[in-house]
Amino acid sequence: MRLSTVEDTRAFGERLAAVLRAGDLVILSGPLGAGKTALAQGIGAGLGVAEPVTSPTFVIARVHHSGRVPLVHVDAYRLGAVADPRAEVDDLDLDASVDESVTVVEWGEGMVEQLADAHLEVRLDRREDDSREVELRGSGGDWERRVAGL
Ligand SMILES: Nc1ncnc2c1ncn2[C@@H]1O[C@H](COP(=O)(O)OP(=O)(O)O)[C@@H](O)[C@H]1O
Ligand SMILES: [Mg+2]
Repeated sequence: MRLSTVEDTRAFGERLAAVLRAGDLVILSGPLGAGKTALAQGIGAGLGVAEPVTSPTFVIARVHHSGRVPLVHVDAYRLGAVADPRAEVDDLDLDASVDESVTVVEWGEGMVEQLADAHLEVRLDRREDDSREVELRGSGGDWERRVAGL
């Protein structure tokens, strides 16, 4: 799917949020500037998060409690390559448990392959005309069915 503007990226995140539920792991992959944070902002808006969702680049993770389900927003670049980001995030002792939250991890490049648990990968790539190409890859669970209509 082609996303022409940052507004399209946010709108896509809002549509995606509609199929998300507690315990989900969503990996946003793609190079720096691909639009991962913009997509996370759309997911936050779709979940009803009231405060701004900003890049977690200088912290490992942020939790937003104001939506219909807690949103844990992680920068995996600082987390490193791990088999299950949710286990690492639980160890951070955040004010949220990943089983009760939607966990969205930015910067999945090079680490997506080794993910053990069911997850959705959302791959973003920047085209020459500055639009973004988005590709969904569900792995395990019922992801294929859940994202089929997006
Ligand atoms: N579909 C799009 N078309 C054009 N620009 C976009 C699109 N999606 C995001 N952007 C822009 O790309 C820049 C980088 O986005 P950001 O979400 O910070 O990327 P990342 O988190 O992947 O590094 C921002 O200026 C954002 O507005
Ligand atoms: Mg970012």
